[in-house]
Amino acid sequence: MNRKRIIAGNWKMNKVIEESLSLVNELKEAVQGINDSIEIVVSPPFTTLSVINDIIKGSNILLAAQDVFWEDKGAYTGEISPVMLKDVGCKYTIIGHSERRQYFNETNETVNKKIKAVLKNDLSVIVCVGETLEERENETTFSVIGTQIRDGLNGLGQKDMEQVVIAYEPVWAIGTGKTATPSQANEVHIFIRDTIKEMFGDEIASSITIQYGGSVNPSNITELMSESDIDGALVGGASLDSGSFIQIIRGAL
Ligand code: 13P
Repeated sequence: MNRKRIIAGNWKMNKVIEESLSLVNELKEAVQGINDSIEIVVSPPFTTLSVINDIIKGSNILLAAQDVFWEDKGAYTGEISPVMLKDVGCKYTIIGHSERRQYFNETNETVNKKIKAVLKNDLSVIVCVGETLEERENETTFSVIGTQIRDGLNGLGQKDMEQVVIAYEPVWAIGTGKTATPSQANEVHIFIRDTIKEMFGDEIASSITIQYGGSVNPSNITELMSESDIDGALVGGASLDSGSFIQIIRGAL
């Protein structure tokens, strides 16, 4: 299957301007001319989106925000709208990351509102889903993820789905050094694809990109990517160092 493969770096709340610039300059240089079978995405904090956009313009690196609000503008102190993200050069925004769900009251309903607002503004989304350790141990992984997918994507049309990427990030594997085994991850990816198939049909299900995230590093990327339904990675810690992020990209080729 010819699915788009995407390696994205989620910098989370890291890097001031100077640090961001050196990281992205090193990355840009290293990935120049890399074959375009893989899309490369960086997701820095809001404060450095603009300066990074200036550097990556015309390169093969795309820009993503880490979150968004669902209104285009107005009296919502502290929020950032899809219109603003588009203005600053974003192609994607991440929505529903487990850290947003855990610390900032993100729910499947707010995820759904954000996805719709972003798609209306012609941006693409990376929607994060994943179970906690407790949910895995209670064997509720599939029901939790099924609900996250069904509620998160509720009301979307087939055309909308062309702009949607899913990232499966088991919460217990994020920042812990504990990666899901490739087959453990793939099992959930297949379940996600089946759920998408029930909702949107075969064509969308077989073409949608599903990334894995959670302690991805240069030594596990190749094995993860060799699984049937893993189409890329959403990388946290290892994307903060240009050397390791570049190795991950190379390992995924
Ligand atoms: P780590 O790669 O640091 O485990 O983070 C994964 C993640 O949350 C990416 O969004």
